[in-house]
Amino acid sequence: MSVLSGKNILLGVTAGIAAYKTAHLVRLFIKAGAQVKVVMTPASKDFVTPLTLSTLSNNPVYSSFYEKGEQGTEEWNSHVELGLWADYMLVAPATANTLAKMSNGVCDNLLLAVYLSAKCKVYFAPTMDLDMYKHASTKKSIAKLQSFGNVFISPSSGFLASGLIGEGRMEEPENMISFIENDIVKSLPLINKKVLITAGPTYEAIDPVRFIGNHSSGKMGFELAKQAANLGATVYLVSGPSNETVSNKRINRIDVISAEDMYNEVHKYFNSVDIAILSAAVADYKPKFVSDKKIKKSSEEMSIDLVKTKDILASLGKVKKSQFLVGFALETNNELENAKKKLNNKNLDLIVLNSLQDKGAGFKKETNKVTIIDKLENISEFGLKSKSKVAEDIFNVILKKNYA
Ligand code: CTP
Repeated sequence: MSVLSGKNILLGVTAGIAAYKTAHLVRLFIKAGAQVKVVMTPASKDFVTPLTLSTLSNNPVYSSFYEKGEQGTEEWNSHVELGLWADYMLVAPATANTLAKMSNGVCDNLLLAVYLSAKCKVYFAPTMDLDMYKHASTKKSIAKLQSFGNVFISPSSGFLASGLIGEGRMEEPENMISFIENDIVKSLPLINKKVLITAGPTYEAIDPVRFIGNHSSGKMGFELAKQAANLGATVYLVSGPSNETVSNKRINRIDVISAEDMYNEVHKYFNSVDIAILSAAVADYKPKFVSDKKIKKSSEEMSIDLVKTKDILASLGKVKKSQFLVGFALETNNELENAKKKLNNKNLDLIVLNSLQDKGAGFKKETNKVTIIDKLENISEFGLKSKSKVAEDIFNVILKKNYA
């Protein structure tokens, strides 16, 4: 799956003949799973029609600050909103004129205003005639934009619209997409790192049809896996029974049923990973004997002997070398104290505390509210938010401790 999947791409089109290639570029972004919005300079509309780009991107095309709305009223296109919407901005083709304006903070059209408002990474792909491209002024604009942190996609050499042959052709859309994908991958903080995550409940068999389990949905662990993959890691997600799904190719899902299965799978991967986050709600006890036949009802009362399961997290704490080990604690009382005890007893680097006293937090909820405690007992409290945002917070803390 492309790293562009699910990303918001703002494509700025300026008035170069290569603008005709942007139709293909939009298609390729969409094929990679991205959402695309197009901003055009007024003059670029002579080279490719807004209708083409709007149809292909499935979004309106923006080119002026005001536009006639459906009721004939003037509607404001907010450059700030567009700038904030974007995960990445690409200006392609970028003419000498637009490069000069971008590098000098000139803001006389919507595209330039969006560029100045955008907080995201900006790529620019110059296209112009050979001698314009060689001009000291163009070189200066490019260097200045690079000094702002914008990424230059160098033009290729070849047959130019003027009839001359040389440097100045806009890079082919396929190459531009691979360039951007590679650049994003390179800059991901967990690229070449491996992350092990446990998720979901475990089921401890009583007989062939019954088990001891719990209400964990696995959602928190799956969100952690998605976030790790988004940050570039290869993920091993060892999950108990869960209806959650994953589609990211960086996530290797390993399904297990019982605490014993989870223990075995986790130990297969632990040696080779950089980070392990154990968010599964593992059963603490399992039936001492598992009946191979369905247990028939007989007396008024019955009891099942239980024995402790292996504590997977504690076992990793005992053998860990350089791995960064994160545990979860679900507490109902003396939360901080209990969590700190687990952090120390299980030899963890971080513990993520959920309190069942917090409304909206815990099992089967879309949201969670966590407090993160590190080895030095620094405490970070977070508000109630979606589990995907909680996963982002957890990785932000891990990255600060490790890879900042
Ligand atoms: N855990 C584990 N293996 C177990 C039990 C728990 O790996 N057999 C992990 C959980 O995934 C979690 C952490 O240990 O990261 C804390 O689990 P929790 O149930 O809150 O704590 P326990 O150590 O089991 O203690 P208690 O139930 O007494 O609170």
